[in-house]
Amino acid sequence: MLSNKAFIGLVSLGASFIVNVQAQDASQDGFIWNKLETSPELKWTDCYTQLQCARLQVPLNYSNPEADAASIAVIRLPSPLAGTDDYKGPIIIIPGGPGGSGVELIVDNSAVLPQVLGANFDIVSFDPRGVGRSTPRASFFDTEAQRRFFDTSFDVINATSDSLARIWARAQITGVLAAQHNKNNIFEHFNTESTARDMLQIVEAHGQKNIQAWGFSYGTVLGATFASLFPDRIDRLVLDGVLDAEDYFATRWSNSLLDTDKTLQAFFDGCVEGGPDLCPFYESSPEAISRKLDDLTRTIFLRPVPVKTDISYGLVDYERLRITIFRSLYSPYADFPILAQGLADLMNGNGTVLYQMLEQPAFDCACGSPAPLTSIADGGTAIMCTDGVEVRDTVEELEPFVQGLLRESQWGEVWAGIRIGCTAWPKQEKRHFKGPFLGNTSHPILWIGNTADPVTPIAGAHKMAKGFPGSVVLTQDSPGHCSIAAPSVCTIGFVQAYFMNGTLPDEGVVCPVTQPIFSGQPVGGVVGSTKRRDLEVKEEKDEELVRALTRLRENFRVPTPF
Ligand SMILES: *[C@@H]1O[C@H](CO)[C@@H](O)[C@H](O)[C@H]1NC(C)=O
Ligand SMILES: *[C@@H]1O[C@H](CO)[C@@H](O)[C@H](O)[C@H]1NC(C)=O
Ligand SMILES: *[C@@H]1O[C@H](CO)[C@@H](O)[C@H](O)[C@H]1NC(C)=O
Ligand SMILES: *[C@@H]1O[C@H](CO)[C@@H](O)[C@H](O)[C@H]1NC(C)=O
Ligand SMILES: *[C@@H]1O[C@H](CO)[C@@H](O)[C@H](O)[C@H]1NC(C)=O
Repeated sequence: MLSNKAFIGLVSLGASFIVNVQAQDASQDGFIWNKLETSPELKWTDCYTQLQCARLQVPLNYSNPEADAASIAVIRLPSPLAGTDDYKGPIIIIPGGPGGSGVELIVDNSAVLPQVLGANFDIVSFDPRGVGRSTPRASFFDTEAQRRFFDTSFDVINATSDSLARIWARAQITGVLAAQHNKNNIFEHFNTESTARDMLQIVEAHGQKNIQAWGFSYGTVLGATFASLFPDRIDRLVLDGVLDAEDYFATRWSNSLLDTDKTLQAFFDGCVEGGPDLCPFYESSPEAISRKLDDLTRTIFLRPVPVKTDISYGLVDYERLRITIFRSLYSPYADFPILAQGLADLMNGNGTVLYQMLEQPAFDCACGSPAPLTSIADGGTAIMCTDGVEVRDTVEELEPFVQGLLRESQWGEVWAGIRIGCTAWPKQEKRHFKGPFLGNTSHPILWIGNTADPVTPIAGAHKMAKGFPGSVVLTQDSPGHCSIAAPSVCTIGFVQAYFMNGTLPDEGVVCPVTQPIFSGQPVGGVVGSTKRRDLEVKEEKDEELVRALTRLRENFRVPTPF
């Protein structure tokens, strides 16, 4: 469910759950990438289904380009209009995380992306250095089994009275393991500036001068870094689900949760609006649903529920419940209906549906076989701890930080672990770009923010836009992380017009969404099935678009920073 999808979002709490790649098994994936030669040109080879793959050679250290090289895994869905007047070059999808895989995003969404963006573009993405199929890769463990037995996915501050101290103590171990695997200070190269430079290499290797890109979540930090370093190399840049880059490089993670409680409120409100048929966790008022959830949470805290499914087994305990709810806030239109079912069942002592929302198969030690090339949590940790200023806080020093987060939102208890996770990160030079985020870009940036984004509040978009004259913030009136978490024909229309014609919305535009959260539509379903036969062409096109957007939000998940 949540876990088995390509992740674009901000830090996956439980990044180790980003196992993904439904499209093919890991061994086939390894076969595809290992047989490709790394080259300074993009030498495309057919891969997966109707996609093309290449490995691009870039300098590992841009200050010393003659030294070692890195190999960036690049993937594209070529435009059928290439070579015609209608061809408009590549759009790079910039993945989130940090640690998210662009390759997985394209593999999982290649059927839908051209419907959303148009056939005029090649749709391109990549695994950032340190991540997934790009090499060298960040790894703190010698085997997948070691990683899985040191799983930090379900760290939640309020779970026990010593949780903060335990999360901190485990971070010291991660620091030692990372240092052991940090040969030649390799992790220092996995910084956002270097990946922004890799993006320019991808653009140039594609035969273009300027970038066209759509970045999500942490991908907006990559985009804003690119725009600050190369302001005159921008043709189109959409930054969607905008992270406050200054806060990110300060390793603070302190203003991510401004709207998180609003997102949960959308669950309560939507459930009332949907009614008991569409929302099994229904009560007659939002307050009553909120109280029922609090009661259930207290019960689970004292009495975890065991679950056995066909592929795994485990407990629905306080930590799992909290993280499952938190993760559902990223994608309310896809996940709230399932969450409502899961919570209602849990009230009756059945944890199966809720457990399955973050399920992964029971670990099977394929001993001796090479580690799969899918993205792993280590890449995300390496990038954010390398990017951010050094943190050496003790447990005592972290207390006020955690209290501050908890005052911002009850979800501070799951978010705090991000900063804590960097407290023992190996010492580094940290000479990479950390701001200021400013630029007179050759084409204005289009920022997009949702009114109730659980991890990238719209304040981030407004703050970042200030540094880039002429850029515009488009608001989408919806809960969820990044615009694609909710279906909006309005938003996607502005994105299409921007990519096709370069036009920007007026400042202050607010886009509505196209359907309610609890709409009773099956996964991949369509709104407006009661339409008359003689519907206008535009409505039919909208309907197709909504169908495409629905499929996109099922698969195109923005990973989050945990
Ligand atoms: C990158 O290269 C420069 C110039 O040679 C050097 O000073 C710097 O230490 C290198 N960075 C890393 C992380 O090795
Ligand atoms: C977590 O603990 C803090 C007090 O340390 C409290 O204010 C907060 O409400 C708790 N959060 C939850 C979800 O129980
Ligand atoms: C729990 O719910 C699942 C999913 O609806 C169902 O398959 C299973 O039979 C239920 N378990 C019990 C013990 O009722
Ligand atoms: C952008 O252009 C304006 C007007 O020319 C100028 O005042 C400003 O300093 C420029 N900003 C940057 C970051 O170059
Ligand atoms: C781009 O501009 C043309 C001409 O004004 C218009 O017909 C077309 O609909 C625009 N494309 C988009 C996607 O808005």
